[in-house]
Amino acid sequence: MKWCIIGAGGIADRRTIPALKKDASNELVAVMDKNVETAKLIGEKYGVKYYTDPDQMLSEVECDAVYIGTPVACHYDQAMTVLKHDRHLFIEKPLAIDSKTSKKIVEAYKAKGKLITVGYMMKYHNLHKKAKEIIALDGIGKVVDVRAQFSCWYPDIKGAWRQNKKLGGGGALMDLSVHCIELIEDILEDEIELVKSFYSTRTFSYEVEDSGVFIFKTKGGVLGHIDCNFNIPDNASESKLEIYGEKGYAICKGTLGQEEKGKLYHLYSPQGDYSAKQERVTDKPTEYDGENSDLYLKQLQVFVNQVKSGKLNYFYADRAVQVQKIIDKIYKEKQK
Ligand SMILES: NC(=O)c1ccc[n+]([C@@H]2O[C@H](COP(=O)([O-])OP(=O)(O)OC[C@H]3O[C@@H](n4cnc5c(N)ncnc54)[C@H](O)[C@@H]3O)[C@@H](O)[C@H]2O)c1
Repeated sequence: MKWCIIGAGGIADRRTIPALKKDASNELVAVMDKNVETAKLIGEKYGVKYYTDPDQMLSEVECDAVYIGTPVACHYDQAMTVLKHDRHLFIEKPLAIDSKTSKKIVEAYKAKGKLITVGYMMKYHNLHKKAKEIIALDGIGKVVDVRAQFSCWYPDIKGAWRQNKKLGGGGALMDLSVHCIELIEDILEDEIELVKSFYSTRTFSYEVEDSGVFIFKTKGGVLGHIDCNFNIPDNASESKLEIYGEKGYAICKGTLGQEEKGKLYHLYSPQGDYSAKQERVTDKPTEYDGENSDLYLKQLQVFVNQVKSGKLNYFYADRAVQVQKIIDKIYKEKQK
């Protein structure tokens, strides 16, 4: 598959292009960035043509698919440019600035029969897949409580698009909690429906929130909460996902992030009668390790296989729209 890139300088250069290059069935043919120095730098780094205009790139270059890794506010126009040129699209999360815009993109791709998928790669982590399998096999019983904490240290940076509401659409919740929502829905095979949130900017001086938390209820009745911060040091954040059931738990530590690292602890410890003594015998959980391969490659392979087989599946794209609906609800809640 031949690929073009729109927005070459950030995550594209750090993760996506290196992942593309690991699979010989992919070929990078051109990159585009609005910053001419970045376009030139990345084009020369990978030995491909470079552009500053996506329309021009897609008119001149033959390719099957395009990857978009630009600020969120650019996603809609660029996704439509890609579609105008009849290419399949792999676009970064969050899909667009709000759910209405996100839905418009997905519906347009469906109507034209072009694949669109969104960069939620954490569901491909071997430990998240293992947790999903354990739950499906009744390894923790009926799920009753889910908690996720995902943070990154993100101080004031002049001109940073993520710190600008118009360009990023929001702060820690828009940027980080979207991963948690998508992942939880994937593992539980359920949908988050109701939310109550608190968010504020406590540490830094930018306009979007650096601290956000919300509780939720899924359609299936599971309760949970998600915490996301830009103001907890990276080394102090456990980046964890805890899932508790009536018979035990599946706890992933250090798995929320860009690498397939961390550990999964699975405890199966069903209990019969009520114990007034509340004696707790500590059963040892079974431990599993992250397999440390490439999440970005794994998600690209799913995309490539669909395009090659012609069996286009919009399930994940629809879920990316659903994730944006939750974010819309959160930002509509009044904060005092
Ligand atoms: N899935 C993940 O693991 C992951 C990680 C980081 C970022 N992201 C997502 O990727 C996207 C980009 O984030 P980033 O961290 O790489 O940002 P970034 O600012 O580091 O890089 C964005 C690149 O796009 C370029 N750019 C800006 N406006 C453009 C435009 N109008 N046209 C073309 N190029 C333009 C910039 O010059 C820069 O090279 C966002 O949607 C973000 O949420 C996803």
